[in-house]
Amino acid sequence: MNTPICDFVRQYAQGGAVRMHMPGHKGTGPLGVEALDITEIAGADELYHARGIIRESEDNAAALFGARRTLYSAEGSSLCIRAMLYLALIRARRLGLPARLLAGRNAHKTLMTASALLDIDIDWIFPRPGEGLLRCTVSPQTLESRLARERYMAVYITSPDYLGNMADVAGLAAVCHAHGVPLLVDNAHGAYLRFLPRDSHPLSLGADLCCDSAHKTLPCLTGAAYLHIGQSAPEPFAALAEPALSLFASTSPSYLILQSLDAANPCLAGDFGERLAACAARTAILRETLQNHGYTLTGDEPMKLALTPKPYGYTGDDLHALLGQQGIACEFSDPDHLVLMPGPMLPEAGYQRLERALLDIPPRAAIVGSPPDLPPPERVCSIRQAMLSPQAALPVSQCLGRVLADAHMGCPPAVPILAAGERINADALNCFAYYGREECRVMAP
Ligand SMILES: Cc1ncc(COP(=O)(O)O)c(C=O)c1O
Repeated sequence: MNTPICDFVRQYAQGGAVRMHMPGHKGTGPLGVEALDITEIAGADELYHARGIIRESEDNAAALFGARRTLYSAEGSSLCIRAMLYLALIRARRLGLPARLLAGRNAHKTLMTASALLDIDIDWIFPRPGEGLLRCTVSPQTLESRLARERYMAVYITSPDYLGNMADVAGLAAVCHAHGVPLLVDNAHGAYLRFLPRDSHPLSLGADLCCDSAHKTLPCLTGAAYLHIGQSAPEPFAALAEPALSLFASTSPSYLILQSLDAANPCLAGDFGERLAACAARTAILRETLQNHGYTLTGDEPMKLALTPKPYGYTGDDLHALLGQQGIACEFSDPDHLVLMPGPMLPEAGYQRLERALLDIPPRAAIVGSPPDLPPPERVCSIRQAMLSPQAALPVSQCLGRVLADAHMGCPPAVPILAAGERINADALNCFAYYGREECRVMAP
């Protein structure tokens, strides 16, 4: 598989042209990568009007992912989520459907900001009792009953979630398609799923639109992401995908990130799948070793280790600090979880250090308590109305009964406790305290 973007930029850098164009570093600088950092000069194509090297590279990626169309984002899945919602909205407008989305509540905060920008209402599927806020099981049965009652422009789920829980995407897609509703999947954490021995990428399981943060699980630079359009996605999605992305994107995409996506293609077409299978097997062994030692874990995603360490006598934050002292940098922690992300590029020595460090931590008396649940709160107005209203920042202790206006009042990995437009009740205050939130913005009276 070729690398047209990398080839073009390398040739340009070696050609010694006088750079009478942006960026201002003119190809030299302290980072050592400046020579490869160009802008949309002649021959370099245009990211959201891709007809040359970028389109060729995107088509390579589409073939790898089995997509009808794959588009690059140099601004993460966040940009792709805004574009997915816009595409679903445009289709809804054409069909006379309401601007209303049905979504699993454990969504990344970008869903909230995108809904505010596009004035989309969200009906939520809330977590089951005991799931906390980060997990939200959406079964095909639940989805069927919701779609039978209301008309929606699309269904939106997050799979895998931050803790590595995977939804039954095939089952959910079947229900959506039976109702003529597109399925949008935030697959920010699951780009690699396509390359496992058993392909479990959402696109392969029937999603119509799907965003992948390439940078989270593939060997790509931070910011690199894909927007994938499914083979049988509704008609306007592929045709409008470029304008959808460009509506929200910078007009100066990073060519370092584009090269990173381009360079990933031959890697993914090569031995990445074998490396991934070996890594998944190694991660499964480590998971078992930790369980045999007394640790408990959650989630079924093969490349994530999500420890729930309270029964072992530690909070997630305790373990995070202890591993940090051993030179092990973790992905995420909160009182209940510690999330570790190995990957095919991690050397065996990394697994061994992690294993040794975790096994050296002695068990203690179990910490009692589980993450708080939040019963569905009262919705007072739309996310857009709340976020664009006059607002005041207050200590949370003064917020009982007020309406949230914050784009993000969530628990650590950017999952909402409350969405803007919802009333702050005692349960919500309890959750704010649990996750250490001290201040929030509320709608002015
Ligand atoms: C579930 C989920 N969706 C979307 C995003 C946004 O992805 P990106 O950072 O690539 O913009 C994140 C970021 O952590 C995430 O965890």
